[in-house]
Amino acid sequence: MKREISMETAELLYENWPGQFDTFSHMEFACSIPQPLFLISTVKENGMPNLCFHSWSCFGGDMGGYFAVMQNVAHTSHTYHNIVREGEFCINFVSPDYYSNCIATITHNSNLADEFEAGHFTPEKSVRIRTPRVKQSFMTLECQLACNVDLSRKGICSMIIGRVLHASVEEKYIEGIDKRYGREGFMFNIHEPADFATGQLSDTHVASLEVLGSYPDLKNKPFGE
Ligand SMILES: Cc1cc2nc3c(=O)[nH]c(=O)nc-3n(C[C@H](O)[C@H](O)[C@H](O)COP(=O)(O)O)c2cc1C
Repeated sequence: MKREISMETAELLYENWPGQFDTFSHMEFACSIPQPLFLISTVKENGMPNLCFHSWSCFGGDMGGYFAVMQNVAHTSHTYHNIVREGEFCINFVSPDYYSNCIATITHNSNLADEFEAGHFTPEKSVRIRTPRVKQSFMTLECQLACNVDLSRKGICSMIIGRVLHASVEEKYIEGIDKRYGREGFMFNIHEPADFATGQLSDTHVASLEVLGSYPDLKNKPFGE
C-alpha cells in the first residue's frame, strides 16, 4: 500500500521548528531525496572570502555547456547576494571528513568573518574566476552565473544556475572510481527524513555512496539477488 501525500497540506507531519514548512516544502521531508553536499565559495562585498555549506542541486549539460543547478539558494544568505553581485562562484566538493569544518563556516558567518579561516580551509587561486577555490576539495567547478529564478515566487530562495567554466580534480580521485564514489568521495545530505509512523522529522543524516557493481555486471542479474 502506498501513502499518498498532498502538495497542499503538510498533514501528518510535525515541524521541527516553527515556520519550517514555510522555509522548506514539507515534501522535502516527506521525500527526503539525498543530494550531494559541497561548499560554495564566493567573495563578500567587503572582499572577505565566503563559504556556504550547500546541498540542493543537480548537474548536467550538452555540447553547449555543463551546468550546475542549485534549486534552493536562500535570499537571506551572503552567497545569494555575492553570486548576484559578482556573477560567479565556485563549487567545492569535500569528503565527509570535513563535515564539522563545513558546519564551522555556518557558525562563523558574519560579514567580517573569513570563512575559509573559520572552517580551517585553505584558499587557492581559481583558474577562470576571481573567487578562490578550496584547496582541500577533491573536485571544484568554477562557475559563471547563467540564470537566477525565484521558482516559487515567494521571495525566499532562487534557483541559481551556473555555467561551468573550468573543473579541477585531485589526481588520486580521477584515477579509477573508488575514491570519488566511496567513503572519501562525494558526501550526501539526507534532510530530516519524516517517519510516517509518528509524523516526526528525524535528524539530518550524512551519507556516502556504496557502489554495487557496474552495468554489465548488474544488467542480467535477476531482481533481488
Ligand atoms: C547540511 C546543510 C545543507 C545546506 N544546504 C543549503 C542549501 O542547499 N541552500 C541554502 O541556501 N542553504 C543551505 N544550508 C544553509 C547554509 O549553509 C547557511 O545558511 C549558511 O550560513 C549560509 O552562508 P552564507 O550566509 O555565508 O552564504 C545548508 C546547511 C546545512 C547544515
